[in-house]
Amino acid sequence: MSPPSSVLPAPAEKERAVQRMFSAIARWYDLNNTVLSFGLHHRWKREAVARTQARDGQTVLDLCSGTCDLALLLGERVGPTGRVIACDLNAEMLAVGRSKVEQRGRADRISCVLGNAEALQFHDASFDALTVAFGIRNVTNIPKALAEMSRVLKPGARAVCLEFSRPTTAILRKVYDSYSFSLLPKIGTWIARDRTGVYQYLPDSIRHFPPQEEFARMWREAGFSRVEYVNYSGGIVAIHVGVK
Ligand SMILES: C[S@@+](CC[C@H](N)C(=O)[O-])C[C@H]1O[C@@H](n2cnc3c(N)ncnc32)[C@H](O)[C@@H]1O
Repeated sequence: MSPPSSVLPAPAEKERAVQRMFSAIARWYDLNNTVLSFGLHHRWKREAVARTQARDGQTVLDLCSGTCDLALLLGERVGPTGRVIACDLNAEMLAVGRSKVEQRGRADRISCVLGNAEALQFHDASFDALTVAFGIRNVTNIPKALAEMSRVLKPGARAVCLEFSRPTTAILRKVYDSYSFSLLPKIGTWIARDRTGVYQYLPDSIRHFPPQEEFARMWREAGFSRVEYVNYSGGIVAIHVGVK
């Protein structure tokens, strides 16, 4: 099945358009993630957090944190003496995240803050590790966000990015294309009662995101070393890791 014509917003419009979409679906975001990924997103997120190698007492950043799934997992790793900053540009997504953090009694170690991945408010070399899951694809200027990720990490610290990528076999690409361009937008739109077109934007943004190797090259250009990636679910997602 060939993808339909692009519904991606123009770069100058992208940030506002993306934020409008996330504001509209924030309440339904977690349910849709679980339904549309058949529950797999929990496993992918656990794998990403494990790859940070974050330890007790460390200070870590979860960028584009949304509803704070990764921040909560990071909170388990750093323990009561650690600190997790969950940072996102969208107040509605972060409000859902903040209530999850409070319900699970983790407000002692997780702080939810508004911030833009392209211009972070944190000092240089502030964090022992950093995660970003399904977020960087939505950022307008990806090289700028990668440079900011590197800037706020301490030397030797790891950045871990979980993102949709390119399925490794032609048959899987075909099946996945057919699912993500036809069934996924219908189910997602119906569950979230969405009128912004976010679930049409989703497969299109995935198709336009750089595949594994190209994305790894962007990390090296941003100054990360020991850049590597691992595919999950046949390359439907990939986890990239780089060291500052
Ligand atoms: C698909 S959600 C991912 C949420 C969460 N990380 C997860 O894996 O479930 C993408 C998030 O990226 C955020 N985002 C997009 N552009 C951003 C930017 N420039 N700076 C910070 N957050 C941004 C959106 O507001 C949204 O909450």
